[in-house]
Amino acid sequence: MSYPRVNSLKTPDDFRKRLAELDIEMLFDEEIQPAPTGPLAAPVKSSAGLIGNRFSILPMEGWDGTADGKPTDLTQRRWVNFGKSGAKLIWGGEAVAVRHDGRANPNQLVLNDANEREIGELRTLLVDAHRQSFAQTDDLVVGLQLTHSGRFSRPNDKKKLEPRIAYRHPLLDPKFGITDDRPLLSDDDISHLIDDYISAAKRSKKLGYQFVDVKHCHGYLGHEFLSAVDRPGKFGGSFENRTRFLREITAGIRAEAPGLEIGVRISIFDYFPFQPGPEGTGVPSGQGDYRYAFGGDGTGLGIDLAEPEKFLSLLEELKIDLVCLSAGSPYYNPHIQRPALFPPSDGYQPPEDPLVGCARQINTVAKLKATHPNLLMVGTGYSYLQEWLPHVGQYQVRTGGVDFVGLGRMVLSYPELPADVLAGKTLERKRICRTFSDCTTAPRNGMVSGCYPLDPFYKERPERLQLAALKKGG
Ligand SMILES: Cc1cc2nc3c(=O)[nH]c(=O)nc-3n(C[C@H](O)[C@H](O)[C@H](O)COP(=O)(O)O)c2cc1C
Ligand code: SF4
Repeated sequence: MSYPRVNSLKTPDDFRKRLAELDIEMLFDEEIQPAPTGPLAAPVKSSAGLIGNRFSILPMEGWDGTADGKPTDLTQRRWVNFGKSGAKLIWGGEAVAVRHDGRANPNQLVLNDANEREIGELRTLLVDAHRQSFAQTDDLVVGLQLTHSGRFSRPNDKKKLEPRIAYRHPLLDPKFGITDDRPLLSDDDISHLIDDYISAAKRSKKLGYQFVDVKHCHGYLGHEFLSAVDRPGKFGGSFENRTRFLREITAGIRAEAPGLEIGVRISIFDYFPFQPGPEGTGVPSGQGDYRYAFGGDGTGLGIDLAEPEKFLSLLEELKIDLVCLSAGSPYYNPHIQRPALFPPSDGYQPPEDPLVGCARQINTVAKLKATHPNLLMVGTGYSYLQEWLPHVGQYQVRTGGVDFVGLGRMVLSYPELPADVLAGKTLERKRICRTFSDCTTAPRNGMVSGCYPLDPFYKERPERLQLAALKKGG
């Protein structure tokens, strides 16, 4: 199925008409108000410090660290671009493993003794780049995303999953070749891992990061705990047990790294895994009752916010005010997680107009913000809106539907978009991410990630030809 391209929706009426055809509500402002008075330029106070505007850069790794988990020049370039973006909240930079076996790929950064100097340098480079472009940095907040990749760990070989699982999943285990004899992480293993998170948080504090994100999204281990309804013992079953991982890490950080703030990026709802169906369009991999989607309504295809609400209340109890909302997983339902017109090479054709996916995330966040107004929420799902991104983002911030507009892929193709919006400039159309998914297809095929179609730096790299051949099936 093909869908109209967003750049063909040239006027507010065109955009409104398309939204009406899709029967989705996604309100937007027609006029963008620049800094210093516009809603997107309003500073906000957080536990981690003053945040000078309403743009946040979402974490994005590049599969470009060294084998021992240090950043390379490509990693540094991405962080410098994050600094130049003008966004005042850097949500985590990229996923950094707290230990080797939890790396999502053999090039993921690892925060340990040997690497801490270089991982600290990333923050310094980002802040310096920000200072050069915008002078002021006392309203810039930079966090580090801490992760263990759980069932999606590939620490040693790009092609070899070495899963560490919290429970047996009836659909994901067979989908990813996990056999019945694979041992579960024991409660003891989990307690050791909690210690590793706390050590990584202590290092992050020493390196000057203002907060750490205890990642709970995208099917990785933190997220898996939230749906561990069948797991026996203290990390599974009840809501209390399923959130013990977060609560114990939080308590450890509070005791051992006082002053370091904590954020949580969470997949606030989830669906069935999807797979290519007839003609390559995504279809659910399961049917009937589905109890393994945190924030799901039991059908695998709908949302129930009862547990997400409880989770957000728990964050408030834990005195965590920074939360970044995402959804689903890039491995098993990418159309939920990062709406795109063109799927990555291992994906499926979108089963819905990607605008529906944007609206699903944006409207869910607005509902949660209404019930938890004291939490500072970063929203996801904006890149696919393209020309309409600032319009929808400003409306959501202006009306209190979200605190920060989170930007993922858009800053890979067009790092200065936030600065341009705030300065009231017309967007550079040629740099707008059109969701070609090369930044996902490349790493799925063993290459470094980057915006090969639009970033002149990546356009020149040899991988571009390799990607072109791959897409042609060559
Ligand atoms: C190349 C790439 C790398 C990513 N790496 C991470 C990551 O390290 N941690 C994370 O939480 N999300 C990661 N994501 C997801 C993004 O943060 C974001 O949720 C997603 O791209 C949807 O936002 P967008 O529509 O603005 O792109 C990554 C996405 C891409 C495209
Ligand atoms: S490769 Fe570039 S244009 Fe394509 S999705 Fe990624 S950032 Fe967007």
